[in-house]
Order: sequence, then structure tokens, then C-alpha cells
Amino acid sequence: MNRRHFLRATGLGTAGSMLAVTGCRDSLDANSTASPPPGYRRRDPQQTGATREVHLVAEEGEVEVATGKIYRTWLYNGQFPGPEIRLQEGERLRVTLENQLPEGTTIHWHGLPVPNAMDGVPGLTQQPVMPGTTFTYDFVADPAGSYLYHSHVGLQIDRGLVAPLVVEEKQPHVSYDRDYSLVLDDYLPNTPEPLQASGGMMRRGRRGMMGPGMMQGQTPPYEGLLINGKLPNDPAVFETKRGEQVRLRLMNPSGATTFRVAVGGHRMLVTHTDGQPIEPVTVDALHIGMGERYDVVLAAQNPGVWPIMAAPLEVQAPPAEAVLRYTDVAATQAPPEAVPEGIRGGRVLELSDLQALERPAERTPTRTFDLTLSGGMMSAAWTIVGQAYPDADPLEILEGDVIRLRMVNHSMMLHPMHLHGHFFQVGGALKDTVIVPPHMGRVTVDFLADNPGRWFFHCHNIYHLEAGMAREIRYV
Ligand code: C2O
Ligand code: CU
Repeated sequence: MNRRHFLRATGLGTAGSMLAVTGCRDSLDANSTASPPPGYRRRDPQQTGATREVHLVAEEGEVEVATGKIYRTWLYNGQFPGPEIRLQEGERLRVTLENQLPEGTTIHWHGLPVPNAMDGVPGLTQQPVMPGTTFTYDFVADPAGSYLYHSHVGLQIDRGLVAPLVVEEKQPHVSYDRDYSLVLDDYLPNTPEPLQASGGMMRRGRRGMMGPGMMQGQTPPYEGLLINGKLPNDPAVFETKRGEQVRLRLMNPSGATTFRVAVGGHRMLVTHTDGQPIEPVTVDALHIGMGERYDVVLAAQNPGVWPIMAAPLEVQAPPAEAVLRYTDVAATQAPPEAVPEGIRGGRVLELSDLQALERPAERTPTRTFDLTLSGGMMSAAWTIVGQAYPDADPLEILEGDVIRLRMVNHSMMLHPMHLHGHFFQVGGALKDTVIVPPHMGRVTVDFLADNPGRWFFHCHNIYHLEAGMAREIRYV
């Protein structure tokens, strides 16, 4: 054991303040040479395919969320959501970002464990790409999965700077005839603004101390919920034929909305979480937080026209809607506005249902952080162990550590916590984003420190992120 290890092991190496988050060494043999358990180790990204060149212009443009309902915002290549990038596992992706916006921007490849310098976090891995300049992101697309790319500057996600990124697997563990990406989003026709404190002393007398009034106060003034950029009255249509298997890649890059998703007339076979394959499980509904992805397969055995519905979990608002349409029958059986059973009842996917196809082995953490998530009451700040980023201590780790993050949510809102650069194990699954439920909800995740750099760990509600609910995880 070298000196640094020893100091960390005994806690002498860190002179933390009361609020500092100090990782505690769980065992003294942490720097033994035992290799990490299988199924948990990162494969070295292997370039086994062609190089794909993509040019993205971030620019102002118009969005039409329904016929005639147009607003101006910020877009990739004039599209909303941005253009899907779809490539094969092992291909190399080179994306040149050209910034034609009036302020700096970056792109983050959400969920993909890219090299640190390609991660697109301003102030951590790169400076913002300034107006009139370009930056080239270059990495191997590995492993396969459903991902996202989005701006990581300020509240730019609540412009239109979000898009699907699909890395197709060479050998899928499920078969399917159709493959559709569904981007679930909320939209603001105006410039996104940080939210004010809305609970406790600050607003006493204006609204109730608790309940929906208060929740609404902590949500931006969205004008509607969208699937692939469309409101329910002008929905995206996904076609199928009887007898087919339809793969839906559900992705939530929204600013502040958690959705409950269900499909009329069909149960969902959940096959992937955050892009990673799981033992398939059949449900009627699932909850998807900001930053999460779920792939589901529908067996098309129920001809008609069916709604694919995504209802907001934390606020009262009309659900987002798309349409599943059988093309080989006269489609009259079910009107698309029929509410799927799973929106109100039925079997809902639970975290414990998620079991990675390749089961991660049991392992002992070598360093544990206890992370209290708080906010939403007396001040506008959202904190992790009392600190609001950027005025927050980094969580310092060593390469080779097995890190345990024990989160407990002291607030009344849920937090989809997202880790950059790594997948973590939660229960039997590998994910990169996980919902920590409100009112003392607890979630523990473990990950192997195998991708050196400066990585962001944060709530993917961008208003919470902007108000401080983030930490840097720093390899030292
Ligand atoms: Cu998709 Cu740091 O986020
Ligand atoms: Cu949050």
C-alpha cells in the first residue's frame, strides 16, 4: 500500500469540512491486484467498422409541434428532435459541431462511455464551443445501445438541442421487424429560465405549502408534451403489420418530465434499460425519468390503431401521444384517443425487474459515498450533501476502486441521477441513470472506476442540475 492509499484508508488524507463528502475506504486490501469480476469490466472499445462522419450545425430554427403551431428555438440541423445518428457497434463516429448560436454550446453523448475529453461537459472536459467556431468529437461507438446526444450547457436542453443516438448491436438477444426511436419531451416556446424557490417561507401565503400548487411552482411553464416533436393532435405514426415484432426505443431527454408509458391493446416486453440488454420482462406500463431509456418489443397481434401514451408522473397535464397503426387492416377497431389500460393500472415495471443479461458478479465496494439529495423548500438550491455545484467538493476516487454511491432523497421530488463515463450496477442491472424516489427514497449503485478523468454525476432534471444538484467524480 503506497502512502496515498494509506492516508485515504485511514481518513487522514482529507481535511473535509462538516459538509464535505469524504469517501470512506471500506477495506484495507482495496489496492490488491485482484481483477474485477466478469460482466462488470468495460470492454476496450474496439473499432471494428467504418468511420462515420457527421456534421451538426447548432442554429436557430422553427419547430412545428402541430399543424400551424410554430415557435422559434435552437436546433441541430434545423430538426427537432435533432437528426438521429444510427450506427453499428464498433463503428467510429466523428461529429463536427458547428456553432451558429448566439452563445457557447457543447454536445454530450449521453450514456455512451466515451473517453473523457469527448464527454462534452463545459468546465470539466472542454470549454464551450463558442459562436462561429467548430469542435470535432471523435470516438468508437461501443457498446451497442439506445443513447441520446444533447447540449450540456445551462438550460439548452429545453431549447431543442436533443436527439437520439442508436448503436445497433451485431447480435440482438431479441428479434424484431421494425425499429423505431421515440423521443419523449416537454416543450417551452420561450427562453428557459431557472426556477424560483417555491416552498417553505419563500412563498408562504401565495400558494399552499404542499400539494400540487407547490409542485407546479417547481416545474417550468411547459406548453405540452411531445413524442418525436409532435403534440397529440398531430401525432407521430408508427406502422406495423399483424405478426410483426415492433421494437420501440423509448428515450427521455426532456428538461423536467418523468413519464408513465403504456400502449393501447399491447403489453410491452422490456428488453433493454439505458441501452443495455436485460432478461426480457412483460409489463403494461413503465416509468421513464429524464435521461433514461427503455427498449420494448410489442408483438403486433391486435390489428387496429392504438395510442402510445406517455403521461407525466409529477404534474397534472395532458399526456404525450403517438400512434401505432396496422397497415394491413381497415383500421377502425380502436380510436387513438382510447386510454391504454397501463396508464392507470396493470403491471408496472419495477427496478427489481431489471436483470442484466450478463449478470454482474457480487463484489465488495472499496469506497462508499453517502449522498443526501435535498432541495425544493427554503431556497432555490438543489444539493447533494448540502452543497450546490459548482460550490461543491469533487468525489475523489482511484482507478480500480469499486465505488458505492448510497443515495437518499430528502426532498419531495424524484431525481433521475445520471453518471457520466460508466455504467453502474443497480440491483441486477447495468444502467447509467436511475430514479431516486421522493420522500426518503433510497437507491444504491456500484461502479468500477475504470475510465479515468473528470466525470459529472448529477440529477438529469436540468432545473435541479442548474440549481446545484451535481458533483464531479474525479480520479486522483
Ligand atoms: Cu444527459 Cu450530464 O447528461
Ligand atoms: Cu432532481
